[in-house]
Amino acid sequence: MQKIAILTSGGDAPGMNAAVRAATRGAIARGWEVYGIRNGYAGLLADTMDELHARDVGGIIQRGGTVLGSARSPEFQSDAGVEKGLSNLRSRGVDGLIVIGGNGSQTGSYRLHQEGFPVVGVASTIDNDLYGTDVTIGVDSAVNVTLEAIDRLRTTGSSHQRAFLVETMGRNCGYIALMTGIAGGAEVIVTPEREVEPHEVVERLGAAYSRGKTHAIVVVAEGAKHGARAMMDYFKEHRGTIGFGLRLTTLGHVVRGGVPTAADRVLATRLGAAAVDQLASGTTGVMMGSLCNTIAATPLAEIAGRTKPIDCALLELARVLAQ
Ligand code: F6P
Repeated sequence: MQKIAILTSGGDAPGMNAAVRAATRGAIARGWEVYGIRNGYAGLLADTMDELHARDVGGIIQRGGTVLGSARSPEFQSDAGVEKGLSNLRSRGVDGLIVIGGNGSQTGSYRLHQEGFPVVGVASTIDNDLYGTDVTIGVDSAVNVTLEAIDRLRTTGSSHQRAFLVETMGRNCGYIALMTGIAGGAEVIVTPEREVEPHEVVERLGAAYSRGKTHAIVVVAEGAKHGARAMMDYFKEHRGTIGFGLRLTTLGHVVRGGVPTAADRVLATRLGAAAVDQLASGTTGVMMGSLCNTIAATPLAEIAGRTKPIDCALLELARVLAQ
């Protein structure tokens, strides 16, 4: 291995830059040349890559987002797209690729691996729904920003006897909703994996009001079938049963931006460096993740097309504790 390329792909995640820095410097320490591909697989297809030196990745460990840029590339999902990507890598003389991203991105890595190209993935998505890792780069930051918002909403909710519906990120996965619901003491948590019917939410809120609660928090994952907006419309029709005043807050991309936490920086640094070691070992076609706090390589064949489920037992725990 003499020349490698790195790309960040899919939704950006706080900590991606720390992974880029670690992979770049780890590779340079081995005497390799490193290229940064701009804007994920879209940049691979457009052949936009520049050499990265140690100084180019200086001062980025604390920065949110990704200095390489990111994108979702439908074109790369086709056979023609994969072929074009491979041809660009080969004509540049790149002999190994590190892909930092989530599920869609690692499916792309797997396609390249199937074509015989040496590729190593790095687990990164705020959703934490990747199989093959307990945690992903970005989730700790996103959970903490979401939690801070919930804590703030609770204080104002309490002053006005209001119930707040809080929509968290997570199109297909309720991990952020679940963790912040538990840590934020939510009355109800609604996830795509385990829906709660609007009438049941109304009942639970009404019961909480009757028990003398001064506020209530309902955390709804973006991807839930009964989304926060629809739930709010339903609540308005049942205001009398609920008791609390009602407000809706959609957190959206606010929680994906900004400074990565220490945990995300450390995880990203370990995974980025481990990806270089893995390329050097010659065993590629794997994704680097953290299992039981140990860095682990899981074959992309096991990861592609699969997601990691949330722990639904925690939803029941949250329900019991919301007394
Ligand atoms: O990166 C994951 C994620 O933030 C999901 O939680 C969210 O549903 C989605 O990306 C949003 O994607 P986009 O930034 O393309 O709107």
